[in-house]
Amino acid sequence: MPTHVIVLAAGKGKRMMSDLPKVAHMAAGRTLIGWVLEAVRPIEPANTVVVLGHGSGLVSDHLPAEVTTAIQEQQLGTGHATRVGLDALGGLAPDDTILVLYGDMPLLTPELLTRLVERPDDVAARMVTSVLDDPTGYGRIVRDDSDNVVEVVEERDCDAAERAIGEVNAGVYAFRAKDLIDALAGVSNDNAQSEYYLTDVVGILVGRGQRLQPVAATPQEVIGINSQDQLAQARALLQARTNQRLMESGVWMLDPDRIYVDDSVIVEPGARIYPGVHLEGETKVGAGAQVGPDVFAIDSTIGAGSTVWYAVLRGAIVGDNCEIGPFASLRPGSVLERGSKVGTFVETKNVTLGQGAKAPHLSYLGDAKVGARTNIGAGTVTCNYDGYEKHETVIGEDVFIGSDTMLVAPVTIGDGAVTGAGSVITDDVEEGALAIERTEQREVRGYSQRRAARQAAKKAED
Ligand code: UD1
Ligand code: CA
Repeated sequence: MPTHVIVLAAGKGKRMMSDLPKVAHMAAGRTLIGWVLEAVRPIEPANTVVVLGHGSGLVSDHLPAEVTTAIQEQQLGTGHATRVGLDALGGLAPDDTILVLYGDMPLLTPELLTRLVERPDDVAARMVTSVLDDPTGYGRIVRDDSDNVVEVVEERDCDAAERAIGEVNAGVYAFRAKDLIDALAGVSNDNAQSEYYLTDVVGILVGRGQRLQPVAATPQEVIGINSQDQLAQARALLQARTNQRLMESGVWMLDPDRIYVDDSVIVEPGARIYPGVHLEGETKVGAGAQVGPDVFAIDSTIGAGSTVWYAVLRGAIVGDNCEIGPFASLRPGSVLERGSKVGTFVETKNVTLGQGAKAPHLSYLGDAKVGARTNIGAGTVTCNYDGYEKHETVIGEDVFIGSDTMLVAPVTIGDGAVTGAGSVITDDVEEGALAIERTEQREVRGYSQRRAARQAAKKAED
């Protein structure tokens, strides 16, 4: 039987105290709803509808193309939202399975969902439950004397005995389509929150003598995010999963609790990651690279065998066997070819460093091309901005740029040329030439002795 999926995500998530819709919050590199849809993908649903309401644009921007959306104008409860989702599902047959789940459950696993949707034909619904040490906030599972589930009672509608129940409703269900549709018609909003609860469907089906099966899950899998502290907990658990996967593939981590890698990041086996490393977006780390301590990299590539420590990389491409840092900032468009080096207190932007080129200390290189094997002396600045426009600096191969050279762009330095330390280079330098721009040194002999004598004479007068 085909499976159709309805993800409920229309709520604002008041308890988040945030302007962003709850399910659009990020955890370990994906939005909450992004994680839910990731868990759903392997069951290959016939179609998936996400029910949106508050800030729908902010959520739908992040959704994959194969997902359709439906808008719940007013948040009248999860039962009402499910009806909105059903209306948007085309091509439903009465015996199809409808998987309903909430968009705020990022720790769901494909294994659990696969188990859930294996609904026997004579079972009207399967639902995920879990026993929690602290069930506060969740709907409680009420069972009869023969241990059959009879209903779900929301916390706010619980009496003292019900509140003491540790088994909770996870908020993930596999219904037979016709039974879900029939039972939803009988759901009222006569409860503490005046909402149409999807959970009432459970009691209605049982009352009609339909078969219902609970499916047990670990407390971790069913965590629903309602507040910032729960978001932080979920992030830690999701990160631990990603790091576990990476370590199993052969990535070395000194202290995985202090390593933050988005799910979208590729780290090849044999890479070594130290604490304080954040790898985000479309970042890639090659085999044998050493990253960290303390690196932030987004949408960047770190080549095999490279070392990057105490550095920030944004949209940078670092080739194989390069050395970055400590204390380097690689801004967008920085391209470092094999074996090149960007050292301490060096900032780069929109610059290509050829193979084996080096800028070891205290430099700014922006809007520039640096040829292979060229050495950039300490304190060199490409003066690329005249206050109005950006200009390019082109430096050839095997060039030696002396310390503290100001390269006033646009300017070109030929292959094998040398600039004298402290020069302000405003004109192009021809291949193989030495360009030096500084006033000649003057020496005043005996200066110190004369000064000391003057001071002594002054003291004697006083
Ligand atoms: C819900 C369940 C509760 C369960 C818990 C698990 C109901 C009535 N209660 O409670 O039994 O233990 O989840 O985490 O279902 N939503 C809509 N439209 C609405 C209301 C909610 O789309 O009108 C969406 C929300 O965006 C959210 C999800 O449904 O993603 C759950 O809503 P939420 O308010 O978090 O429900 P809980 O009170 O946590
Ligand atoms: Ca919730």
